Amino acid sequence: MQLPIAVLVSGSGSNLQAIIDAAAADPSFGARIVTVISDRPDIRGLDRATAVGIPTRVVPWGEAPDRVAFTNAVCDAAEEAGATALVLAGFMRVLSKEAVDRFPNRILNIHPALIPSFPGAHGVREALEHGVKVTGVTVHFVDEHVDHGPIIAQTAVPVLAGDTEESLHARIQVEEHQLYPRVVKAFANGRLSVNGRTVIWEGETL
Ligand code: GAR
Repeated sequence: MQLPIAVLVSGSGSNLQAIIDAAAADPSFGARIVTVISDRPDIRGLDRATAVGIPTRVVPWGEAPDRVAFTNAVCDAAEEAGATALVLAGFMRVLSKEAVDRFPNRILNIHPALIPSFPGAHGVREALEHGVKVTGVTVHFVDEHVDHGPIIAQTAVPVLAGDTEESLHARIQVEEHQLYPRVVKAFANGRLSVNGRTVIWEGETL
């Protein structure tokens, strides 16, 4: 039985593509993308889904009266497609607490920094501006606070002399595309559980 997941995107969808490719290549991946949901139309992430026959839904941020209504509309769209877990892959809207109530410990997020450093929408830029020598990628469960839930896995990425936001983000994305499919696979195969802020792995960690 494969875990039916909804992948949420707002842009290019390169992490979505990494998950699509991993699922296609690995019979034991354990998850099936039943829908891709976006907060805006006309983005590459939706085209990537359509190209491989995955149904898509757009829940326009601008049309929702408030964050709670937006969140419930996203959760409704996921449930209508049969999803029992949400995978946020470059989804740039903050979901309200209602999402966590409806999918407790069943929402994953990827962030382009080492949480708790540099949460928010500009994690790469702020790490660079701060002058850190190491940043990276975090995959975590979503809780009611932004970029805060229990950490599942992290990969460090060195900041190099002369890095721009674009060059650093490109190297971070190489690591994202390795890490996120592996975490989704572990989650889908029931290898992750949460005790307070601690994520417990059954079997080997990554
Ligand atoms: C990724 O680097 C992801 O970590 C970041 O957006 C990018 C989306 O790329 N997410 C955040 O900054 C969330 N705060 P993609 O659309 O090509 O997967």
